Amino acid sequence: MHHLSHLPSNFVWGAATAAYQIEGAVDADGRSPSIWDTFGRVPGAIANGDTGDVACDHYHRWPEDLGLLRELGVDAYRFSVAWPRVIPTGTGAVNTKGLAFYDRLVDELLAAGIRPFVTVYHWDLPQVLQDKGGWPVRDTAEALAEYAGVVAGALGDRVTDWCTVNEPLCVAWIGHLEGTMAPGIRDLRLAVDASHHVLLGHGLATQAIRANASAEPSVGIVLNPSPVDPATDSEADVAAATRSDGHTNRWWLDPLHGRGYPRDMIETYGYEPPVRDGDLETIATPTDFLGVNYYFRAVVADDPTAPAPFTRQVEVPGARHTAMGWEVSPGGLERILTRVASEYQPARIYVTEQGSAWPDVVAADGSIEDKERIDYLEQHLEAIDAAAAAGVPLAGYFVWSLLDNLEWAYGYDKRFGLVHVDYATQERTMKASGRRYAEILRDFRR
Ligand code: NOJ
Repeated sequence: MHHLSHLPSNFVWGAATAAYQIEGAVDADGRSPSIWDTFGRVPGAIANGDTGDVACDHYHRWPEDLGLLRELGVDAYRFSVAWPRVIPTGTGAVNTKGLAFYDRLVDELLAAGIRPFVTVYHWDLPQVLQDKGGWPVRDTAEALAEYAGVVAGALGDRVTDWCTVNEPLCVAWIGHLEGTMAPGIRDLRLAVDASHHVLLGHGLATQAIRANASAEPSVGIVLNPSPVDPATDSEADVAAATRSDGHTNRWWLDPLHGRGYPRDMIETYGYEPPVRDGDLETIATPTDFLGVNYYFRAVVADDPTAPAPFTRQVEVPGARHTAMGWEVSPGGLERILTRVASEYQPARIYVTEQGSAWPDVVAADGSIEDKERIDYLEQHLEAIDAAAAAGVPLAGYFVWSLLDNLEWAYGYDKRFGLVHVDYATQERTMKASGRRYAEILRDFRR
């Protein structure tokens, strides 16, 4: 790998996780159930009947996991706060025991010289709020702002880096249209309603964080944009790619940057989002950075029988795929970064997640020589260096993930970690990729 010479010297190197995927301890210290606890009890919803009940038991083993972050030598750690731990009733009373977990974690991260990047909402909506309608109802956006204000009030004297919402696309489209993530709804109108309320919640949460944090906060949202290519150059497939790009990218990026919802997509959905006066201004509240999670590029064909946007994903012959079945496309990362930077001009971009699952093999001596993950990592780092060379204002990069963890509906089988987790013993083992990442960071700082 060549030297990453186009990245600024203050570039932030990190690793990322999310609460429900690692914490376990779902009943501890007053936590209430989230929609993922409920979803995990629906037969067949999560592969192998897996649940987040124990996960990586990070709630109890966090000091060891902090040790792993130190071993990696990262500058920053992106984690999420579990709403059902902090406000178990969704709105109202704050559970100080739940907050105390994150309070201690933040203190110990700072003592270790690691900068906390806090994600306020990474998909674990309190079930009590789902019972009142969840994201398809407007109250949930207000509830998110209330919760964000509480977290910022408690941690915002030390935490300066805030992600409001992680991947609204997954919340709205996968949770409410495809139904393969919690809450498992399949309804286009409810999905569009959810998309609007998640974006509104982001805008309100941005304001709430700024109003409640005492240390000057840097606030942004985390999207997962992908470049979309047509499967063929037929008119139908080219139009399909435009719709898929609208669904995946423009539906989120346009309103966040003051352009409102794309007209062509409102026509595709045949339904208007429930926008009230002032909502579009709230959604476009200026942010300090844009978070980009990147995993693959999409190649799509026209498919009138598919749910909106009436496209289907096509496998590219000869392409390499990760264990998720996702095409390995470092060029796609460079493309999406340069496009987002030139079309929307965010002040800064953090790559808030980037990583890959592979069928890792534990050798007889316990080591994990995950060469595919190393190659993937190096190729994607070269892509961000190229994007920086092209003028993209990149400020940091976070590997997904610190640890193997619950890959949502795919369960524990899909391993993204730089660190292997043996779920029978909870033993952690640094993979070769983790050692390589540490070495890359050391070389960068030389
Ligand atoms: C995006 C999500 O934010 C994260 O929770 C998930 O595990 C990774 N992508 C991998 O799919």
